[in-house]
Amino acid sequence: MTFLGIDIGTSGVKALLIDASGKALGEATAAAVEPTRPHPGWSEQNPQDWWAATLAAIDKLHQSHPQALAAVKGIGLSGHMHGATLLGANDEVLRPCILWNDGRSAAECAEMEAALPSLRDIAGNIAMAGFTAPKMAWVRKHEPEIFKKLKKVLLPKAYVRLLLTGEHVEDMSDAAGTLWLDVAKRDWSDELLAVTGLTREHMPRLVEGSQSSGQLKADYAARWGMTGPVIVAGGAGDNAAAACGIGAIRPGEGFVSLGTSGVLFVSNAKFSPNTNGAVHAFCHAIPNTWHQMGVVLSATDSLNWLARITGKKQAALAGEAEAQFNGPGGEIFLPYLSGERTPHNAPKARGSFVGLSQSSDTAQMAQAVMEGVAFAMRDSQRVLADAGTNISRLLAVGGGTRSALWLKLLATNLNMEIGLPADGDFGGALGAARLGLCAATGASPAEVMTMPPVKTVIAPDTKLSAAYSEQYERYRALFPAIEEIRQ
Ligand code: XUL
Repeated sequence: MTFLGIDIGTSGVKALLIDASGKALGEATAAAVEPTRPHPGWSEQNPQDWWAATLAAIDKLHQSHPQALAAVKGIGLSGHMHGATLLGANDEVLRPCILWNDGRSAAECAEMEAALPSLRDIAGNIAMAGFTAPKMAWVRKHEPEIFKKLKKVLLPKAYVRLLLTGEHVEDMSDAAGTLWLDVAKRDWSDELLAVTGLTREHMPRLVEGSQSSGQLKADYAARWGMTGPVIVAGGAGDNAAAACGIGAIRPGEGFVSLGTSGVLFVSNAKFSPNTNGAVHAFCHAIPNTWHQMGVVLSATDSLNWLARITGKKQAALAGEAEAQFNGPGGEIFLPYLSGERTPHNAPKARGSFVGLSQSSDTAQMAQAVMEGVAFAMRDSQRVLADAGTNISRLLAVGGGTRSALWLKLLATNLNMEIGLPADGDFGGALGAARLGLCAATGASPAEVMTMPPVKTVIAPDTKLSAAYSEQYERYRALFPAIEEIRQ
């Protein structure tokens, strides 16, 4: 018996096979077409691209691990959150998906909060432009012909599920990021739906992430040599899935993710909102569990940007920065290239470099980019603490963890030890596979979602703590000053 986790990311799809003990057997990836940015601050992707990348990744596993793939009994899905995938009467896609890092709906957020003053209480979250409901409000206002044809709104991984199983289903963790869910009750809210002119009819059925959501269609099972029913679990939004992958399911257990977006995630025993600090308070992917997180919209995406405009590779930039590193320098970077979520909730904010001099070079700019992301995480840690949340254990995940300097900057600024998992990238794909295992076998999530072995523990560099506390205060002072000038 084996299990398959499929992680649908903005930059590609990863498929991971595990055995019944949770051991990784093989993986394959397929790149997705990069999001388009039709206007500054917008970000869209064609749902068909996720589907093509999903099939390509599983087909590769069929080539490389035919027997292990044929033994799959459970599949779990993980996906980038918040995207609005609009479907018509025949499940046809009505327009490109508006993604999690699209900030076009700032005006609609304010209008929704004015229309329903209890919105923050029910949703447990601020109406933020990245969430799904404000995007629907934007479509309703700016593209009424499309809104009229709307029959269902799905999140990215639910669209892939629809094609795999024929079912419209969503799990609680991803549904919590729509702003249509009553997060405490783990149910759609008629009041929240009504604010955007929708009803339960437009929503997929809800299941817990570790429950079954349907079965893989027979033709796909045959394509990959699978026999007998193959259960597809509810799965999770990519952050809750990553938490399942690194075993962060008990209160205080968390992770810091350096992916396209950056996330500071902590598991909670109960629903714990803190809308003042723009904390995300969502359902976890397993029953009766919630989580909080702070979200930085451009983490490795900030370094990608610097790589694009300098013509260097991200790894080369990170290497240059590490080679000349000597504590904080004169350059400071605000990583708000796609706007900002935690703690300011400012979709129209933009990135800044300050303190450049004639001697600033790409190495120093790369260092400032990595520091800016670490400061943004420090902001998130501060507002989670304001909500009374103490992170007791932190592991690091995501592509940015390949940089030892970036990890040291994080540990020093969060003033916490950070563990690095031993076996590669324990991202959403492993968590998804574990959810697939639970749904197919009935195994208890608490037994399955264990912490992976830790390869390295990164300790704060106490010699740099004072210098970074000073630089962090300068960084904090810049946001209000720069935004005041920009507006
Ligand atoms: C979370 C968020 C991002 C996406 C990226 O709120 O918007 O982390 O899930 O994949």
